[in-house]
Amino acid sequence: MKGIILAGGLGTRLHPLTKVTNKHLLPVYDKPMIYYPIQSLINAGIRDILIVTGGNNAGDFLKLLGNGSDFGLEHINYTYQVGEGGIAEALGLAKYFAGDDRICVVLGDNIIEKNFIAAAEAFGKQECGARILLKKVPDPERFGVPILNGKRVVKIEEKPADPKSNYAVTGIYMFDNTVFDIIGTLKPSNRGELEITDVNNAYIERGDLAWDILDGWWTDAGTFESLFRANGLVAETGANRID
Ligand code: DAU
Repeated sequence: MKGIILAGGLGTRLHPLTKVTNKHLLPVYDKPMIYYPIQSLINAGIRDILIVTGGNNAGDFLKLLGNGSDFGLEHINYTYQVGEGGIAEALGLAKYFAGDDRICVVLGDNIIEKNFIAAAEAFGKQECGARILLKKVPDPERFGVPILNGKRVVKIEEKPADPKSNYAVTGIYMFDNTVFDIIGTLKPSNRGELEITDVNNAYIERGDLAWDILDGWWTDAGTFESLFRANGLVAETGANRID
C-alpha cells in the first residue's frame, strides 16, 4: 500500500500564521506539523510516500524534508496542487503515483497519539473497498460525521449543524484503486470543494466501506484552538507511539 499526505490548501483559518508559510510547516510542540503524518504512515508500515502540497511555499517542504533521511527514508515523492479545490481534488493528483496500488491517505494536519497498524492490516485482508477510522469527539459538527445503524455506517455528513452521532471521521482513509474513478465523478460542494466525504459516501452506496475506532487521542491542527490543543497533547504524551 502506498501513502499519500495531503498538505495543500491555503490554511486561511490560521491567518496571519499562514500568510507567509504553509500550515503544515508550522510547529507543533517540537516538530513541524508535517512530521507527524509522515511518522503515522511509517508506523503503519508504509514507506512509499507522496506529499501533495500547494500554496506559495511548496519549495520549503523540499528544504525541510529532502529525501526523508530524518525518517530513515531514501526517497519522498512530491506533487503540487494549484489553489484549494478540496481534499478529494488534492487526492486526485496522486493517481499517477498510485498506479495500480491501494492507498492510505493522511491529512497533513491530523496528529495521532498511537498508530493504526491494526486497521492497515485489516484493510490488507479486505478484498476491495475503503476503510476509515472514527473517533468520539465533543464537537462533531466540525468534522465529517457518520450516521450509524448498528455497526453499519449508512451515510457521512460533512460538518452537519445537527450531528447524528458523537463520532468524527478522522483524516486517515484507506482506499482501493477505484477511488480515482469516484473522484472523476464528483461535483464541487457548496464550499466549492471536491469533498472526501462524497468519496466515502460513494463507497457506502456500494456497500464497501469498513471502519475501525482509532486508538489513543486524535486531533486536527487547522484552527487556533486545535493547533493549541495539538501542541499540548504532543508535549504531554508524545505522538505516534507504537507501544
Ligand atoms: O480532520 C478531519 C476532517 O478533515 C474530516 O472529518 C472532514 O470530513 C474533512 O472534510 C476534513 O475537514 P476540514 O474542513 O477540517 O479540512 P481542511 O479543509 O482543514 O483540510 C484538511 C487537510 O487537507 C489540510 O491540512 C490539507 C489538505 N487539503 C485541504 C484542501 C481544502 C489539501 O491538500 N487541499 C485542499 O484543497
